[in-house]
Formats: sequence, C-alpha cells, structure tokens
Amino acid sequence: MTENTRTTPETVRTVACVGAGVIGGGWVAHYLGRGYQVVAWDPAPDAETKLRGLVASAWPALEQLGLAEGAALTNLRVVDTLAEAVADADFVQESAPERLDLKIDLLAEIDAATPEGVVIASSTSGYSMSEMQVEAATPERLVVGHPFNPPYLVPLVEVVGGDRTEQWAVDWASDFYRAAGKSVISMDQELPGFIGNRIQEAAWREALHMVAEGEATVEQIDQAMTSGPGLRWAFFGPCLTFHLAGERAVWRTCSTTSARP
Ligand SMILES: NC(=O)c1ccc[n+]([C@@H]2O[C@H](COP(=O)([O-])OP(=O)(O)OC[C@H]3O[C@@H](n4cnc5c(N)ncnc54)[C@H](O)[C@@H]3O)[C@@H](O)[C@H]2O)c1
Repeated sequence: MTENTRTTPETVRTVACVGAGVIGGGWVAHYLGRGYQVVAWDPAPDAETKLRGLVASAWPALEQLGLAEGAALTNLRVVDTLAEAVADADFVQESAPERLDLKIDLLAEIDAATPEGVVIASSTSGYSMSEMQVEAATPERLVVGHPFNPPYLVPLVEVVGGDRTEQWAVDWASDFYRAAGKSVISMDQELPGFIGNRIQEAAWREALHMVAEGEATVEQIDQAMTSGPGLRWAFFGPCLTFHLAGERAVWRTCSTTSARP
C-alpha cells in the first residue's frame, strides 16, 4: 500500500523544499511563516546564503500578515544532500529549473529517497505530471502544485495529477495546501498552462496585439487594467463580474460551458 498513512494533511510538521531559487525560496518562506519545520536542499554552492537572504527579506511581510504559532526562522534547516532533505519529510515541494530532462530525473530521485506514501509536488509552470513522472518507481504520489510568485504572498496554487497519479494524492495535496493557508484549485484534468496563466496569457496576447497594431500604448494598457477591470477581477473574477453586470447571456454561456461533460 502506498497511500500516505504517516500523517494527515492537517498534522504535517516537516516540509522538504528541493530547489531553493525564486520559487523554492518563496515556498520556504511561506512554510516557515505557517509554522512548519522546513528542510531545504539546493545544489548551487551559494544556495544557502541566497535562500536565507530571500527568507529574511520576506519575513517582515509575513510578520505583518500574521505568523502561525511557533513560526520561526530557526525552523529552517539547509542540508547537503537530497536524501537528507526528504528523509523525514511529511510533504515534498520540488522547485528545480524548468527543464523536462532534469525534472524527470530529479522526481525519480526524490521518489526513490522519500518515505513511502509521502506526497511529492512539483512547482512546474509548463510541464504536465504525465510527462515528468515517467521514471518514478511510485508515480501514484506525484502531483503538480503550481504556485504564483511569490508563493508567500499570492495565495493561489493549482493542483493536478498525471496519468499515473492516484486521486488520493491529488486530494491529499489539495487538503495540505489548504491547511497551509493556500487558495487551492484542484484540477480534474491536465491543461497546458493550467488555469491562472491561461487567463493571464489571453489578456497579455490582446495587449501585445493592441500595441503591435498601434491601437494603444503600453502605458494605456497598464492603466486600463490597474484602474479598471483589474480591480473588479481581483475580487470577483471575470465570470462573476459579468454576471453582476447583468450580462445574463454571457453568464449562461459560462455556465453551459462549465457543465459540459
Ligand atoms: N518564477 C516564477 O514566476 C514561477 C512561478 C510558478 C512556478 N515556477 C516554477 O518553479 C520552478 C523553479 O523556478 P524558479 O523561478 O524558482 O527558478 P530559479 O532558477 O530561480 O531556481 C531554481 C533553483 O533550482 C536549483 N537547482 C538546479 N539544479 C537542481 C537540481 N538538480 N535539483 C534541485 N535544485 C536544483 C538552482 O540552484 C536554483 O536555485 C520551475 O519549475 C518553474 O517553472 C516559477
């Protein structure tokens, strides 16, 4: 049996962060602020100095937002090997560079070293778990947990499994992220770009088009978003915004589309 029997999502104590750059370091800051013990590993020679610098610069914001009971910078341990990082982990967050060959090898290595049943999540923004889990011995516990930068300030995380992931792992990871203070979308299917970036890219495509056609300047586009729809979208999202504006036809289309099998 490979299902996690070690701990429940709500009683996780130790999180391993593999890869500690911009996103891995941001995850470390988030987990520390939430009161977890964090063990980090990154092969770069200056990784520990950079990581501690990133966490120190994030800490005042986390203090202002409110630290969890027991949260402390001293709960961070930076170790010399991957095996040491994951040995006692209740959950593993991988945030290594976005290269498919590297992710495939690294996830297989993490999988081999991590205690049975512990869920392993990748921060990837571009690859599907189906592509990345091909060399892992126990792929059923591998999921994507896609954050937004910086993970200690932006709440969204998109969770999705691959062809060989079992549903319990997606559910466990989603529950864990919720317990860790994130806003979670648990996705039913793999989708290139996930959801948040797909919407962001659609707006970005239109912005590039308007600039290329000479229809608007970059300043006008930024002002239009930050003083206009961006304010509404931040609170309600585009669908509820249009619904509240009385666009019943648009809302019907959204509802019908989301109800499609
Ligand atoms: N930057 C973003 O806005 C963003 C947002 C969401 C998700 N992501 C994803 O997060 C992941 C990390 O991106 P990043 O922006 O933090 O990159 P980054 O280059 O800042 O950090 C990558 C870190 O991984 C380390 N590393 C190199 N080889 C490694 C290995 N074999 N094992 C473990 N660590 C290794 C590097 O030393 C570096 O510190 C990528 O998959 C990326 O797609 C990035």
